[in-house]
Amino acid sequence: MDQSRIRNFCIIAHIDHGKSTLSDRLLEVTGTVESRKMKDQMLDTMDLERERGITIKLQPARMKYVQGGEEYELNLIDTPGHVDFGYEVSRSLAAVEGALLLVDSTQGVQAQTIANLYLAIEQDLTIIPVLNKIDLPNAEVERRAEEIIRLIGCTREDIILASGKTGVGVPEILERIVKDVPSPRGSREKPFRALIFDSKYDEYKGVVAYVRAVDGVLKKNQKIHFLATQADGDTLEVGYLKPQYTTNELMEAGEIGYIVTGLKDIGAVRVGDTIVLKQDVTPESKPEQLPGYKEVKPMVYAGIFPREGNEYERLRDALMKLRLSDAALSAEPEHSKALGFGFRCGMLGMLHLEIVQERLRREHNMEVVVTTPSVAYEVTKTDGTEEVIKSPLAFPDANHLASSREPWVTTDIVCPTEYIGNVMQLVQDRRGVFKTTDYYDPTRAVLHYDMPLSSVIVDFHDKLKSVSAGYASLSYEFIGYRTAPIVRMDIMVAEEPVAAFATLIHEDEAYRRGKEIVETLKDTLPRAQFVIKLQATVGAKIIASERIAAFRKDVTGYLYGGDVTRKMKLLEKQKKGKKRMMSMGVGSVEIPPDTFIKVLRRNTK
Ligand code: GTP
Repeated sequence: MDQSRIRNFCIIAHIDHGKSTLSDRLLEVTGTVESRKMKDQMLDTMDLERERGITIKLQPARMKYVQGGEEYELNLIDTPGHVDFGYEVSRSLAAVEGALLLVDSTQGVQAQTIANLYLAIEQDLTIIPVLNKIDLPNAEVERRAEEIIRLIGCTREDIILASGKTGVGVPEILERIVKDVPSPRGSREKPFRALIFDSKYDEYKGVVAYVRAVDGVLKKNQKIHFLATQADGDTLEVGYLKPQYTTNELMEAGEIGYIVTGLKDIGAVRVGDTIVLKQDVTPESKPEQLPGYKEVKPMVYAGIFPREGNEYERLRDALMKLRLSDAALSAEPEHSKALGFGFRCGMLGMLHLEIVQERLRREHNMEVVVTTPSVAYEVTKTDGTEEVIKSPLAFPDANHLASSREPWVTTDIVCPTEYIGNVMQLVQDRRGVFKTTDYYDPTRAVLHYDMPLSSVIVDFHDKLKSVSAGYASLSYEFIGYRTAPIVRMDIMVAEEPVAAFATLIHEDEAYRRGKEIVETLKDTLPRAQFVIKLQATVGAKIIASERIAAFRKDVTGYLYGGDVTRKMKLLEKQKKGKKRMMSMGVGSVEIPPDTFIKVLRRNTK
């Protein structure tokens, strides 16, 4: 297709503002997918996404669209809306020229709307504002339009009123995409270059790269080279997504499509990398890497271990496969005395961790134990060496530790003014440092805070929703490391440390968190025949403790009458038996899997 007839665009929106529904309508209206084949949310490919109604993976789709007798090729990339997936958003934005800025007319501009909009503006994208869900009776069109105008400085006429549900406004959206979004400006004469914005492992095809061709032409059966990873591959197949794979003869500058790379190695095809033709790479020169590539930095680390000790190999394979379609997941082997061999995995946030765990279960039939998530800390040891610590097991002893630093983020929280007090209280409890407040209008504000990342990752988002009746929204960005007294807290169950519960934590938070954990354990662990001591410790100091009373088998039940000393004797015997059991380790406490999950989720209240 002539480049002047190509339009590449994506949709940026806060979670649940209707991105997937609108994408479905676009596919339907352009006849890309027949209505009767339409499953709701065509572009959310994973079951998990469909169930939870959240977009995790991007799924590109090409549409044919005729306007004024001319045929156009529209390439849509769906983008994830959750805070954890900012990098994926930035990659898909780099692959397009325009973005629909979708705002739910009942909710208005939210934190992710702003965060994604800024990313789009950084990429110089043309923004088409759309107010969505106008079919709803509580849509506040004029008020929300004002917010958009204030945010991007457009006019009221620029804003399209639409409903992904009823299809209102959808034809106008298509018209505006053709009219406003610039066509791609690569050169087909130059050497081939393509940006990888996603990749996938397909059981039959091997590694498939989803790319935006920037310059040149690529055909089937050519040798290709990946500039960042230095890997070589072959184009076994090129084509585009409709959203299902559709093969094509070639791929040209300006187009969005897929390349079957002939590679089996998962690590070789990285999101953000540039694919070129092998023949263009010589010792003297090679095509330039496309801008915007950045190593994805995991924000959260947790140990993932097979529930069955002998399944380490299977876990390794499963994680390798997941990493292929998930550039943000990192994994390094880790060994723990209690949990055996497993991996220290780096992820973008808690939702990401949950998704990884769930995909291991569903796609690879792997049951795993996940240890308490933590951020990466920087430490300086007494001998002057510096280290990045991703696991409590690797944290130096107090007498080897000179100083420690923790990651901080800047956060924007959008919320209605009546909840500002609650939100401020919550953020202060989490060691947040207030910066400024901006007002959209008298009823809504954006609070700017700096916060330790560790305070944001675990359950902050849930808590924020609950203190604001669901109205507050959040976005955050890493800003750097700051000095903090970090300690390692151990949790002892029946005098034995449970490796999975060991955490690195700010000294001031250890008491509260230690208490929370032992209380959760008290409520969830089953009773044993002996008293179970539960303790949280930092070094040799016990900072919280609880105990679970023994349940006593009624060994005296069958006695009827007789001397009381008989009963006493039996009970004495039982006591001794229990002691013996414990000393043999028979009484050691087995921790059920759901207890791990409860503790990790902090479901204490
Ligand atoms: P993420 O993928 O999680 O970011 O969400 P999304 O933005 O893709 O939202 P999605 O399309 O899943 O829609 C969220 C909810 O809003 C669903 O329950 C939809 O049925 C509903 N919804 C979407 N668009 C409309 C609309 O135009 N009108 C009405 N009434 N409901 C809508």
